[in-house]
Amino acid sequence: MSRRRIFVTTALPYANGPFHIGHIMEYIQADIWVRFQRMRGHEVHFVGADDAHGAPIMLAAEKAGKSPEAFVAGIAAGRKAYLDGFHLRFDNWHSTHSPENTALSQDIYLRLKRAGLVDRRPVEQFYDPVKNMFLADRYIKGECPNCGARDQYGDACENCSAAYAATDLKNPYSTLSGAKPVLKTSEHHFFRLSDPRCKAFLKQWLEAPGRLQPQVVNKAKEWLEGEGDKALGDWDISRDPPYFGIRIPELDDEKYLYVWLDAPIGYLASFKHYCARTGLDFEGFLQAPDTEQVHFIGKDIIYFHTLFWPAMLHFAGRPYKVPDHVYVHGFITVSGDKMSKSRGTGISPLRYLELGMNPEWLRYYIAAKLNAHVEDIDFSPEDFLARVNSDLVGKFVNIASRCVPFITKRYGGKLRGVALKKDTGADVASTVRHAAPEIAAAYDAREFGKAIRRIMELADEVNRFVDAEKPWELARQPGHESRLHTVCSEAIEAFRFLAILLAPVLPRTAESAAQLLGVKPFQWHDLEKFLGEGHAIAEYRHLLTRVEAKQLDQLFDLQSVPQSAAPQRHAEKQQHTAREKAVSDTITIEDFNKLDLRVARIERAELVEGADKLLRLTLDLGGPARTVFAGIKSAYDPAQLEGRLAVVVANLAPRTMKFGVSEGMVLAASGEGPGIFLIAPDAGALPGMRVK
Ligand code: MSP
Ligand code: ZN
Repeated sequence: MSRRRIFVTTALPYANGPFHIGHIMEYIQADIWVRFQRMRGHEVHFVGADDAHGAPIMLAAEKAGKSPEAFVAGIAAGRKAYLDGFHLRFDNWHSTHSPENTALSQDIYLRLKRAGLVDRRPVEQFYDPVKNMFLADRYIKGECPNCGARDQYGDACENCSAAYAATDLKNPYSTLSGAKPVLKTSEHHFFRLSDPRCKAFLKQWLEAPGRLQPQVVNKAKEWLEGEGDKALGDWDISRDPPYFGIRIPELDDEKYLYVWLDAPIGYLASFKHYCARTGLDFEGFLQAPDTEQVHFIGKDIIYFHTLFWPAMLHFAGRPYKVPDHVYVHGFITVSGDKMSKSRGTGISPLRYLELGMNPEWLRYYIAAKLNAHVEDIDFSPEDFLARVNSDLVGKFVNIASRCVPFITKRYGGKLRGVALKKDTGADVASTVRHAAPEIAAAYDAREFGKAIRRIMELADEVNRFVDAEKPWELARQPGHESRLHTVCSEAIEAFRFLAILLAPVLPRTAESAAQLLGVKPFQWHDLEKFLGEGHAIAEYRHLLTRVEAKQLDQLFDLQSVPQSAAPQRHAEKQQHTAREKAVSDTITIEDFNKLDLRVARIERAELVEGADKLLRLTLDLGGPARTVFAGIKSAYDPAQLEGRLAVVVANLAPRTMKFGVSEGMVLAASGEGPGIFLIAPDAGALPGMRVK
């Protein structure tokens, strides 16, 4: 097998907000593919970057009272927590707002111009006389020219679905300033996509066998071959100031490149930055005949990646090369709800991490659902819990947890060379091993769901073997030592093969498994050999825990986040706040000081027999223990409370209740919706401290 050299990217996320689950899903898909290729020994360079330019980001920065540079830098600073958190191993993360991108974008623009593919034409467009800027359609509203509905956007009516041009709106206004926009003309630059050279090139590029998914080719050809008002038009690639972007070079007027021109060039900018950092030859790599350039993207940006981008690269010429593959995925929905691209609702990936949920659960779940088609996938909490627990814990980890302890306790941690001796395909470890080529082909083709299904079938087979041989019974009956040793060794050999097959999806668990088995980090060729006679393994340690239903409740219900270090939450924070209600009468500071609020440690939390809502808490406030009854049973599992800190009204008159005397009150928040949320001091507070 010859060594492939692959340059891989994922779409560059807009730098106007934190990652949402759709981004993470895309990165997980690409990361699994990259890890697989690396395990096969191929050379892979995997880069990403923030898409920093454009009017929306410029306006968002203005709203935040920041310069666009400072604004996007703030977003960039939050990226690492997610990338590390989900084991997304990009070699480089850069920005389109960078010297590399400026140089490359200006170079590509000038080459296209010299190739005769840039036209200039006057364009009449709405202009906001208060903000002094041209307005994209999304910043204009007015009355629908068809039905008269008010406050409709500049492209289509939400009331009657009529489509029209912004200039057709009645009584138009700028959503930025409220001002009445005026028509103004400015000279725009166009990339001549309608040029016959472009069309001929794109047709040939799109039709190259195996380059694109068939659905994607069809879509792109519809655009390419459209006629009449559906004909492929030229592409407006310039913007007037004020604009956060890259200056159009060799021009007296101040004009900027449209963000979608410089955005994909950001792939190359990130790669170039990485090459400079690591000593790789940027141009040499791109020009090498065997280099593959692969882009992972979502279905909403096919147009840009299968028409504009390959045409730009082709006509810019060497060292630029056209993409070898653009791999398109569908969207992720959460419990069937389409999440909004801009609001990014659904699951908060950061909250997932903050709750201490294992990133490999999500990697596994997404892998199990993905295939090579442009299909949407759904995250369903019940399905997530069932799959992760039954497959990963119940099938995969179960093999090791049942067999490793016998080897370490009874045989000095040494395996028997059974499987090695009968490498005939008849034993269960060989069965797993012989399925490897089929699974490799599935990974390579991005048929991850298929790979996972096959791996789990194999895990079932190994478990059936263990169930039939019953090592726990062999262990109880004298005279079966040899058989017990053989059975467990064979199951462990099989477990190792399964761990190798799962490693692209579960890098951390694979690492732990390799340690447990006393071997180096897994490579795909490790599937060629058994561990063999006398190989020493380590003591069993737990590899993966189960998902608990309450973690999913917390993920969706927005219940109290544990006190773990909470990294930047950015805009997400706002989503989580309840609206402020009318406030009670004013009190003086003296009134407030009458309250003696203390930090308490919950020593014990117990159910109260006969009480629907109450838990009995035994609290440490620094002095003698106190008992407090708290109405929080619906929201907390007692075991989860023990050891936690809380805030208590320590001078509340004791109250005799049906179940005993309550000596204080624990503070918690609640609103109109369900949920009760205990108030917790930050880590480091000690029982008895006063709260003021
Ligand atoms: N900035 C552009 C891409 C420029 S590439 C040169 C952009 N950014 S984005 O933040 O809106 O989207 C980034 C990627 O996330 C895209 O591939 C997009 O398809 C993907 N997703 C956005 N929402 C998604 C889901 N709900 N599910 C899966 N992927 C989705 O577009
Ligand atoms: Zn209408």
